[in-house]
Formats: sequence, C-alpha cells, structure tokens
Amino acid sequence: ATEQTFIMIKPDGVQRGLIGEVIGRFEKKGFYLKAMKLVNVEKSFAEKHYADLSSKPFFGGLVEYIVSGPVVAMVWEGKQVVATGRKIVGATNPLAAEPGTIRGDFAVDIGRNVIHGSDSVENARKEIALWFPEGIAEWRSSQH
Ligand code: CMP
Repeated sequence: ATEQTFIMIKPDGVQRGLIGEVIGRFEKKGFYLKAMKLVNVEKSFAEKHYADLSSKPFFGGLVEYIVSGPVVAMVWEGKQVVATGRKIVGATNPLAAEPGTIRGDFAVDIGRNVIHGSDSVENARKEIALWFPEGIAEWRSSQH
C-alpha cells in the first residue's frame, strides 16, 4: 500500500555533506519527496521525538547529538516506503549495516549513524505530525 515515512538526516550527515546522497537514493528508488526542511531543533523537541528511548543510558547523549547542528527532516511517500526506507537506511548499528545501505556505506558509530527512519507506519504517522504540524503540500496530480 502507499505509505508515508519520516526520514531525518542527522547533524553528522548534514555536516559531512551527505544530504544529496541520501535524497538521491530515495529518489532513484522511486519514492516521492513530500516535505523537507533544514532545522535546528530544541532539546525539548529532540526529547519528544525520542521519548520512547528516555530510559536508555544513551538518551542524554542522543539528544545532545541531535541538537548539535541542523538536521534535514523529510517526508517520503510510496509503496511500502516505511519498511523499504528502513532497508535503504540500514541497521541501527552501522557496523552491522550491510554495504549498499546508507549506514553501511557512510558510518561506523551507532552514536553517529547519519540518518533516522520511522520503524512502523504508526510511528511514521506520529513523527510526521510532530515534525510537520503545518501540514504537507500536495503534488499536482499530473506529476504523481
Ligand atoms: P535511530 O534510528 O534514530 O533511533 C534511535 C537512535 O538511538 C538510533 O538511531 C541511534 O542514533 C541511537 N542509539 C541506539 N542505540 C544506541 C547506543 N547503544 N548508543 C548510542 N546511541 C544509540
């Protein structure tokens, strides 16, 4: 089914010049970019995005990492984009991520893993609502 997912290029990905690389992989796969913005998020916002991980020992460091520089927040749409987007992103630990995935090709540290992708349709819906409260523009029907 057609779905939407939330993809975020983290501060290390932005600083290392990987924005085009990430967008290119999703575009060339055949997914549609529905929303995108470069933002510096507040600590309280990062804590909200990662609320499910608040009890983890790495939570504080994770929040510091996400607020350390601008991130690129995106909504991608397409067939099974949530699960397929996770495959394009690769395993959370970049050392376990297969070559050919974004994390497998561009990262070595679980605490600096370049990118985030929603892990379920339900979490995608929540994350899109959190990051894009202003809503998402529709493509013209002739283009999509
Ligand atoms: P992400 O896909 O954004 O989802 C949760 C994030 O927590 C994950 O990517 C990593 O950036 C981070 N994370 C998960 N496990 C660890 C860990 N053991 N140490 C540091 N960061 C972690």
